[in-house]
Amino acid sequence: MIELRAERPDDRGAVLALVHQAFSASERGHTGEAELVDMLDEDCDLIFSHVAESDGKIVGHIALSPMRAKADGAPIRALGLGPVAALPGRQRRGIGSALVAAAHDWAAKEGWQMIFLLGDPRYYSRFGYSVDAAQPFASPYAGPYWQAILLDDSLTLPKAGKADYAPAFARSES
Ligand SMILES: CC(C)(COP(=O)(O)OP(=O)(O)OC[C@H]1O[C@@H](n2cnc3c(N)ncnc32)[C@H](O)[C@@H]1OP(=O)(O)O)[C@@H](O)C(=O)NCCC(=O)NCCS
Repeated sequence: MIELRAERPDDRGAVLALVHQAFSASERGHTGEAELVDMLDEDCDLIFSHVAESDGKIVGHIALSPMRAKADGAPIRALGLGPVAALPGRQRRGIGSALVAAAHDWAAKEGWQMIFLLGDPRYYSRFGYSVDAAQPFASPYAGPYWQAILLDDSLTLPKAGKADYAPAFARSES
């Protein structure tokens, strides 16, 4: 039985270990995602941090952070999704999907208009993310993995926009 809940302060060690393990075992290899979670928190930018727990063990984690985004010059309320991780050995059992759904529910209820992410479109398209939705938004991450989803039906895609991740993302790469 998997329970999804907000991260608690005493979860942090297990969350960082899980994120490290999941990315180290992935095709891309470890590129500082665990440190990124900590840096987002230090900056008070970890505004949604949820875990999946099974028998008292943390088996999944997802993070959302605010972005600075504009659509045709007007500010929009946008979030960056990631990192998201499921424990190796517990993957392909719906943990990642459940965490993404929980993040979307929260973001929609809180009135966020868009979510951006960098990831494999083969995975994220199932949740409604598309390269086309992100394409008008300039970003250092623009390219085949740069995707977005519109949560606000009244928002239309701009001719031109810009979307910048929370500062911790740039620091985690340096
Ligand atoms: C990506 C991740 C969070 C998905 O979690 P999960 O619990 O395994 O995912 P789910 O069980 O909800 O979904 C499984 C499906 O996603 C697919 N999938 C998982 N990772 C994928 C990837 N990187 N690219 C394409 N498809 C992927 C699986 O093939 C499976 O597809 P199927 O349902 O058609 O069989 C997990 O695999 C993970 O932690 N990976 C390492 C870290 C990582 O790469 N995070 C994402 C960075 S963008």
